[in-house]
Amino acid sequence: MAHDEVRAAARALSIEYAIRDVVVPATALEAEGHEIIKLNIGDPIAYPGLPTPQHMVDAYVEAVQRGNNGYSPSYGLPALREAVAEEERSKGWPARPDDIYVCHGVTEALQLLFAAVLEEGDVVLAPGPHYPPYMAYPQMYGATTIEYRLDSNDGWKVDLADLEAKMSEHVRFVVLINPNNPTGNVATPDEVDAMLRIVKAWPQCMIIADEIYDGLDFTGHHVSVASRSSDVPVVTLNGVSKVFFAPGWRIGWFGLHDPSGTMGQVREALERLLRSRLCASTPAQHGYLAGLTGDRAWLGPYLERVQAQRQRCLDRIATIDGLEVEAPGGAFYMFIRLTDDAWANNDKQFVLDLLHEEHVLLVHGSGFSPDRGQGHVRLVYLADVAVLDEAFDRIERFLIRHRNGTKLEMDS
Ligand SMILES: Cc1ncc(COP(=O)(O)O)c(C=O)c1O
Repeated sequence: MAHDEVRAAARALSIEYAIRDVVVPATALEAEGHEIIKLNIGDPIAYPGLPTPQHMVDAYVEAVQRGNNGYSPSYGLPALREAVAEEERSKGWPARPDDIYVCHGVTEALQLLFAAVLEEGDVVLAPGPHYPPYMAYPQMYGATTIEYRLDSNDGWKVDLADLEAKMSEHVRFVVLINPNNPTGNVATPDEVDAMLRIVKAWPQCMIIADEIYDGLDFTGHHVSVASRSSDVPVVTLNGVSKVFFAPGWRIGWFGLHDPSGTMGQVREALERLLRSRLCASTPAQHGYLAGLTGDRAWLGPYLERVQAQRQRCLDRIATIDGLEVEAPGGAFYMFIRLTDDAWANNDKQFVLDLLHEEHVLLVHGSGFSPDRGQGHVRLVYLADVAVLDEAFDRIERFLIRHRNGTKLEMDS
């Protein structure tokens, strides 16, 4: 007798993570012996030349060798909480060590925040487009993510009128990813203030300020959202992954800024959840601590390199028919518009065909927002200029070939 398949939960079966989903066909091509230029993942370590700073690696290794291999306190090592709080105070909000909670990356922080706050029928307002977990996770708790509009014709700025129109008593979090993934937009202080004014009218709503790319701001106008709030509760997110170049360590944190003293219950719920999942990796916390307390001179050359690569992408895109981009102000992403009719509503097919025909891997924009990402692709510009040039040569060749209706003779 045939056995029924064991059921999984529908909420998990519907989860998508576009950035890694496109790796499946790329891996199959690699198994056939093809070399793929992968510009899909926002992992600095995946691109040669941007290693984790040596003093951080040493601190991690020393922690392991010293025997710091036990569980740490659930909210994080006290010295690390103090160092993060000091860093945040320097950005302008009165963070105390007790306001900082260390997690396995911002991604775990999001799961904890949503688990702590969301109930059936609640709403998270996230920017469209956005980093995918903001869509994927809230539904696990019966909540819904609704996108507020980023303006694709104006640098992907927050459309404040759209945000305001979507506010209601069901909205529990308004998310600002700043600088944004995938668009690279950096909100101005005035825009942050305007968002705070909008959220202030809804006392059950908090702001999530995902500032994981804050050190990669090329506009000079990035501000910490918490530093601008004298009444609205703000949860700041950051960690070791992007600005300290160690995403595989899986260390991040959330910080609670509670200027009106309304977050007591939320804090308690979060602390209970944190204790129930024990702690974040102990040696990795030592590595991050070394990054926060050590010299930052290493960062200058890294940023120069990333900026030069950004400029090369802008220069190349400007000369290629079929591509346009709103110049990103921060992070390390280009969210490129596909202007040929064939691809304007077909970005996933573009990514798959480009991968198979030219062995360049990007991510389809619709993976970051079914509506607002359509007709775009995300490119990570952490690869060096020679690799980026080769990728753009191939993309240009691909666009011309498809515009002319010529078929590629595939060798496999
Ligand atoms: C906006 C944003 N937040 C969070 C993360 C992940 O952070 P972590 O590595 O700390 O989980 C990413 C990774 O790409 C991201 O783009």
